[in-house]
Amino acid sequence: MKNSPLSVPVQTSTLLTQMVQRLPLSDAHFKRISQLIYQRAGIVLADHKREMVYNRLVRRLRTLGLSDFGRYLALLENSPGSSEWQEFINALTTNLTAFFREAHHFPILAEHASGRRGAYSVWCAAASTGEEPYSIAMTLTETLGSGPGKFQVFASDIDTQVLETARAGIYREEQLSTLTPVQRQRFFLRGTGPHAGKVRIRPEVSSTITFAQLNLLANDWKLTGTFDMIFCRNVMIYFDKDTQAKILRAFIPLLKPGGLLVAGHSENFSQISKEFYLRGQTVYGLTKER
Ligand SMILES: C[S@@+](CC[C@H](N)C(=O)[O-])C[C@H]1O[C@@H](n2cnc3c(N)ncnc32)[C@H](O)[C@@H]1O
Repeated sequence: MKNSPLSVPVQTSTLLTQMVQRLPLSDAHFKRISQLIYQRAGIVLADHKREMVYNRLVRRLRTLGLSDFGRYLALLENSPGSSEWQEFINALTTNLTAFFREAHHFPILAEHASGRRGAYSVWCAAASTGEEPYSIAMTLTETLGSGPGKFQVFASDIDTQVLETARAGIYREEQLSTLTPVQRQRFFLRGTGPHAGKVRIRPEVSSTITFAQLNLLANDWKLTGTFDMIFCRNVMIYFDKDTQAKILRAFIPLLKPGGLLVAGHSENFSQISKEFYLRGQTVYGLTKER
C-alpha cells in the first residue's frame, strides 16, 4: 500500500499500535509471574497488584520487542541464567524511600552509637536508591565524627538498578527537604550549570559506605563480621511470615551483643520471632541478652 501524505507508514503505524495497545495479561500468566518473583526474591504479589505488575513488566516486553506475556515468561524460564532475570526482579521491586524517612530512628542510632566501643558498624539491608544509608552515615558522622575507623555502613539491596543510583549519590535538590540547611551544606555538593538543581553526596560520606547486591532470600549472605545495628525497614512487608522468620533467624548471629534491629513502621518482628523483643518505636533487641 502506498502512503498518502496524511497516512502513517505501515511499519511506523504497527509500532505505534504496539506502543499504545494493551497487551493481554491472563490469570495464568499473572499467577506464573507471582510464582517466579516469589521464588527468586520472596516477594508476594497479591491480586490487587496486577495492574502494577502489568505496567512495570509491559516496559520490559516493549524493550524486548515482545507482544505477549507468555513469550516473555518462556524467554525467562528457558534461560535460568539470563540477565533478563535481574531486569524482571528490578521491575517488580518497590523502591520508595527518602532521606531521614521515619525520622525517629536516627536519634536512636546516634544515642546507641555514642555509647559503644570500637568502630561502629551498620548494615542497611534494603538500601534502595541510597537515601537510607546516606542518612545513617550523616547521623554517624555528626555523632562520631569523620575519619577512618569511626564507623562503616554496609548497604545492600536485591535491585541492581537502585544500587547504581545509590552509588552515584546524585539527587534532586528538593529531595533534601528533610535535612537541615547545615546538613545540606555539610554533606552535599550543589550542581552548577547543566547540573543546577542537583546535589551530590560528598565523598567523605560516600566513602564510609560499601554498596553490594544481596538477596535477603538467599541461604547464605556470605557476610563477614557483625553489626551494631541492622536497618531492615520496609522490606519485610513484601515477604510472607515464613520468609520473615527465616531472615530474622539469620540476623541473630550477625548482631553484636547489645546490637539493635530496626523495622519499618508497619512491620512487627516480635510477632514473628521470639528471639527479638520490641524496645519501642519499631526498634528491637535480642531477647536472650535481656
Ligand atoms: C520500599 S523499599 C525500602 C527502602 C528503605 N529501606 C526505606 O525504608 O526507605 C524496599 C526495598 O527492598 C528491596 N528488596 C525487595 N526484595 C528484596 C530481597 N529479596 N532482598 C533484598 N532486598 C529486597 C527492594 O529492591 C527495595 O529497594
